[in-house]
Amino acid sequence: MRKSLPGRLSVAPMMDWTDRHCRAFHRHFTRRALLYTEMVTTGAILRGPRERLLEHGAAEHPVALQLGGSDPADLAEATRIGVAAGYDEINLNVGCPSDRVRSGCFGAVLMKSPGLVADCAAAMIAAAGDVPVTVKCRIGVDEQEPEEVLPAFLERIAAAGVASFAIHARKAWLEGLSPKENREIPPLDHPLVLRMKAAFPDLTLSINGGITDLGMAERLLAQGIDGVMIGRAAYHDPSLLGAADRRIFGEGEDVAAETAVRAMLPHIEAERSRGTPLNAITRHMLGAFQGRPGARAWRRRLSEGAHRAGAGPELVLAALAEIADAAPAAEAASGAAAGVGNAPRPSRNPFDPERRAG
Ligand SMILES: Cc1cc2nc3c(=O)[nH]c(=O)nc-3n(C[C@H](O)[C@H](O)[C@H](O)COP(=O)(O)O)c2cc1C
Repeated sequence: MRKSLPGRLSVAPMMDWTDRHCRAFHRHFTRRALLYTEMVTTGAILRGPRERLLEHGAAEHPVALQLGGSDPADLAEATRIGVAAGYDEINLNVGCPSDRVRSGCFGAVLMKSPGLVADCAAAMIAAAGDVPVTVKCRIGVDEQEPEEVLPAFLERIAAAGVASFAIHARKAWLEGLSPKENREIPPLDHPLVLRMKAAFPDLTLSINGGITDLGMAERLLAQGIDGVMIGRAAYHDPSLLGAADRRIFGEGEDVAAETAVRAMLPHIEAERSRGTPLNAITRHMLGAFQGRPGARAWRRRLSEGAHRAGAGPELVLAALAEIADAAPAAEAASGAAAGVGNAPRPSRNPFDPERRAG
């Protein structure tokens, strides 16, 4: 079996969201979390604009490429290309239920074909050299019984050489639910995934689905799971990643959102000079100050201005000034509301454990 990356925390692959600009931003909050690309299909890699699809920055590592496909030869070739492009892990998508994905016979529908997934994984492993090949799956699809299907799936794919899995702890319904509904409606079953770790102690298992903060991640890790994968919460509130290195990996200093935003300015300048529109980058930064005074003004400044021709780093700095300006005003208002100047005030520190308690 291949060694897997020590992904105690990862940011989930999210199509249209976790592109290289988003990953660059997330990386400024955490040096340690494993970042995933969006899913890229084998067809797009083999016959599409490969260089653009696989482009990633040197600072993004560790970064995993997620592939979508179900043809072992194509997946092997795409794996070879992904490894040559410098990715640290190649992941196979067995969890995505979208129409487009179903018609191509890959993603979550593959939960019904563990033999084919095993063939795909074996072909990918043979092509990957020392780079780990991992699988992201669901606990089952449609009428499948997760208690039976999931262990059988893990056993079969592990026998093909996969040592590391990320498990989205809910079923996917292939008919009748939209992809979005498939991330919300089927109930989460974290305990089942935790039991899988007990049943397969030699596998590296990450749990995914509905993890909203680092407190929840810590509690799951304390129950023995190897890794926690966070998707939407990290995207909508990326500053939660700013405490991840300290809390999850036991090293490093917390990173404030202001620091991460400022650290993006060189990336923004470089991308602007290549002709990348500002909003292609800043759309991933809208949630940076989630829950803090000035967050709305920050979002509004960026949303209204970033699509304009010529918009650049100065707009980001102007939006950042909204946060700085809002803080004293919010403080004064909370003091006035309390009626006294030195009354206890709610913390504005985004890393205050009370604010993140989950
Ligand atoms: C906008 C969006 C796009 C997604 N695209 C992918 C994808 O390309 N590949 C994949 O395996 N999962 C994809 N997912 C699912 C996430 O990786 C994750 O499994 C799911 O959101 C549950 O985790 P969460 O509750 O932490 O968000 C996507 C989710 C969202 C919200």
